[in-house]
Amino acid sequence: MMKKLAMLFGVLGVIGLIANFWLFAAPAVPATATIPDSSDAIERGAYLFTAGGCISCHRGEDDAAIPSGGLALETEFGTFYAPNITPDTDTGVGAWSGGDFIAAMKHGRSPDGSFYYPAFPYRSYAGLEDSDVLDLAAYLMSLESVSYQAPEPETPAWLQRWMVAGWNKLADLSQPGTEQFDDELVQRGAYLARNLGHCGECHTPRNGLGIPDWSREYAGAEIGEEVIEAIDAEALAEWTFNNFDLFLILGMKPGGEFVGGDMNEVIEHNTSQLTDEDRDALAAFFTRHSAE
Ligand code: HEC
Ligand code: HEC
Repeated sequence: MMKKLAMLFGVLGVIGLIANFWLFAAPAVPATATIPDSSDAIERGAYLFTAGGCISCHRGEDDAAIPSGGLALETEFGTFYAPNITPDTDTGVGAWSGGDFIAAMKHGRSPDGSFYYPAFPYRSYAGLEDSDVLDLAAYLMSLESVSYQAPEPETPAWLQRWMVAGWNKLADLSQPGTEQFDDELVQRGAYLARNLGHCGECHTPRNGLGIPDWSREYAGAEIGEEVIEAIDAEALAEWTFNNFDLFLILGMKPGGEFVGGDMNEVIEHNTSQLTDEDRDALAAFFTRHSAE
């Protein structure tokens, strides 16, 4: 009997080790990822920072243009604080390597190996090119350092960082592969919408675990009291390419009405600042039309 029990525990131990490895393994990050410091890279990074809407969450309390963090993001899973991502070595990202940025932005893992909560849209950023992440890092490293430690997240007692390991694996199961489009403009629009601009973080409905339901991409959602409109093909059936383009600049809908809520932030800090070409790309992706 004792022998059988010992064997059972032995087998469970091995399964546990395998599960542990599978769940908690460090992400594969290119060892040679170095942060560029050329002015070109910094300039490209500045643009990506805008297109990625980073400042909407990471803006500082004193200076809204510097991402020194502290903003509270209320969700049904608790309150999360966007951290300081200025190059301060103690409280910011000043000591980070290129690999650290790729692991954080694309895999949701911090330099010490722990898991970020998905209030940080790393699952959208997972589709970013490594070179874009490194340009973003170059830009962050060029900013003024601010010493500020953002508060720890306030989550219910049952929710712990390590659980995000399992959440990520569940989310992987339902996440579609990367869809390729023949039209280059639509392809660029898909990258801006699905990855950098993370439009689906708000506009795609989620299940009870907070995992996006990709089979209903952009079908609209409810976050707390806020209703987020659908922006899928059906919802945008009446929108022309030019309607969408104008919306991204001004937040004005085809009927002349202005959008409200959090979308104002997205228009102000993100879509209105895009190049004409990138705005056209988003319009082409969402309306599947080209410029008239
Ligand atoms: C929707 C809000 C949101 C957006 C948009 C966002 N972040 Fe974050 N970010 C967070 C939160 C929240 C965390 C911390 C998560 C946690 O505590 O687990 C975080 C963490 C980080 C970290 C890790 C910092 C550290 O000290 O460990 C980096 C780096 C980062 N974000 C960079 C970016 C960049 C670059 C962008 C734009 C491309 C961006 N974030 C956009 C909310 C956001
Ligand atoms: C932080 C959450 C958030 C993100 C990210 C976001 N949106 Fe929105 N969006 C909203 C909310 C909230 C509304 C509804 C606002 C209102 O009540 O008027 C909205 C409304 C819209 C509408 C108007 C729909 C209609 O029929 O009235 C469009 C179009 C839209 N968003 C496109 C986008 C695109 C494109 C992106 C990515 C670049 C994006 N959104 C990213 C929150 C978000």
